[in-house]
Amino acid sequence: MKASLTTDNLLGSSPMQIATHPDTTSSIMQTEDAYLLRSYRKKEIALARGEGCYVWDLEGNKYLDFYGGHCVTLLGHCPPPVVEAIQKQVGELMFYSTLVYSPARAAATAELADFAPDGMKTIFFCNSGTEANETALKLARKHTGKPAIVAMEGDFHGRTLGSLSVTWDLHYREPYLSSMGPVHWSPFGDADALEKVVASNDDIAAVIVEPIQSMAGVTVAPPEFFQAMRRICDAHGVKLIFDEIQTGIGRTGKFSISEWFGMKPDLITLAKSLGSGVPVAATLVSDEIADAVEYGDQGTTFGGGMVAMAAASSSLKMLREENLMPRATWIYETLRDRITPGVAPHVVDFRGMGALIGIEFDQPSGPIVKKLFEKGILVGGSGNPNTIRVMPALVAGEAEVTRFADALLAVLGDS
Ligand SMILES: Cc1ncc(COP(=O)(O)O)c(C=O)c1O
Repeated sequence: MKASLTTDNLLGSSPMQIATHPDTTSSIMQTEDAYLLRSYRKKEIALARGEGCYVWDLEGNKYLDFYGGHCVTLLGHCPPPVVEAIQKQVGELMFYSTLVYSPARAAATAELADFAPDGMKTIFFCNSGTEANETALKLARKHTGKPAIVAMEGDFHGRTLGSLSVTWDLHYREPYLSSMGPVHWSPFGDADALEKVVASNDDIAAVIVEPIQSMAGVTVAPPEFFQAMRRICDAHGVKLIFDEIQTGIGRTGKFSISEWFGMKPDLITLAKSLGSGVPVAATLVSDEIADAVEYGDQGTTFGGGMVAMAAASSSLKMLREENLMPRATWIYETLRDRITPGVAPHVVDFRGMGALIGIEFDQPSGPIVKKLFEKGILVGGSGNPNTIRVMPALVAGEAEVTRFADALLAVLGDS
C-alpha cells in the first residue's frame, strides 16, 4: 500500500486534495483488518482530513463530527494555533525526557497551573487517561497507606489493570479479576450508600468517580451528591479522585466540573482534549498529597515530552484567549431547546452538561446513529442502548448546531 498522505495534503485547505488520494477506502480497510489486533469495531470510512467541526473521508465526503474521536477534539479538528505550535516544536526538538527542563514543558505547566483549582496546582504529565488514573490511584494509596478504592457503579476509568479494577462494566473487567486490588462498589448518586461503604471499611485509600458517567449513557448526579462525597471522604481520611478525562478542560463550561459543585477533590485526572488529539494526560494533585511525594514515586518516559507539551500549552492558550468555555452552555441550551424531551418525537431525556450530552429515546439508538451517519453526521452510542452521546467541539456555531438538530429531528420524524 502506498503511504502517500503527507502533512501538506493533511493540512491543505481543499477537500479535493483528498479526493485524488490514490488509496481507496477498501484497500485501507483491507490492510488494517489484515494486521491490526481485532479489538475495535470501526465505521467503514477512512478519514483523511479535519477542520473545525468537520472531517473528510478519502473520497472527499464531508461529515459533521459531533463525536470528536471519543470526546477528544474539544477545540475542533486541527485548531490552527495548535497545528502551528506543534509544527514549530517538531522542527526544534521532538523529544527529551523529564531528565531535563524544557521551555515547552514549562509553558504547558504554567497554562495548566493557571486553570487548575487553587490548592491543586501540582501536575504530573503522562500520555493517556488510564495512566492519569493509575497515577491518582497510586498517589492515594501511598499517601494513606491503605489498599482499597471505592468506585461507582457505572464508572469507566480505563483499560490498564489499576484503572480497570475501578471500571464497573464486567465485560471489560471480568477476565482480569484475579489480578486486581480490593475495590468496594457504591451506586452512583447515592450518598447514604457511599457513607455506609466508607464507614464500614477501614482499608479505603480513595473514592474515585466519573462525575458524568459518559460511556454508561451520560448519567448525571446532583451537586449535593458530590458535596456529600467531599464530606464523607474528609470525615474518614479518604482521598477523593475526580476522573475528568471527559468532563475536564472546559467541556462542561468550567475547567473542572467541581467548580459547578462548589467543592474540590484531592486529585483530578485529565486527558482527551488536553492535547487536541496529540496524546497527553495529566493528574492534578492537592498540595497535601504533593508535599509527601518523593523522588521516584511515579514516572514515565514520554510524559512531558516536547511535542505533547506544545500541543497542551497551545490548546490551553487557545481555550483561554478565545474564551471558548462559555460556549459549552450555549451549545447545551441551544440543542435542548430544539430536542426537548416530550416535544421532539421519541425523545425521553436530554441530559449532561455543556458539550457532553446524552439524548435518550423510547427506542434503540443504533438505527438513529446509523441514519445520522447516512446524513453525514457522526455521534456516539453508549452503554445505554437507547442513548446517544453528542460531544461537539466548542467551536461549533449556529450552522453546526442547527444542522445537527434539523437532521436528528428529521430522522426521529421518520422513526
Ligand atoms: C472517563 C474516562 N476515564 C478514563 C478513560 C481512559 O482514557 P484512555 O483511553 O486515554 O486511557 C476514558 C476513555 O474513554 C474515559 O472516558
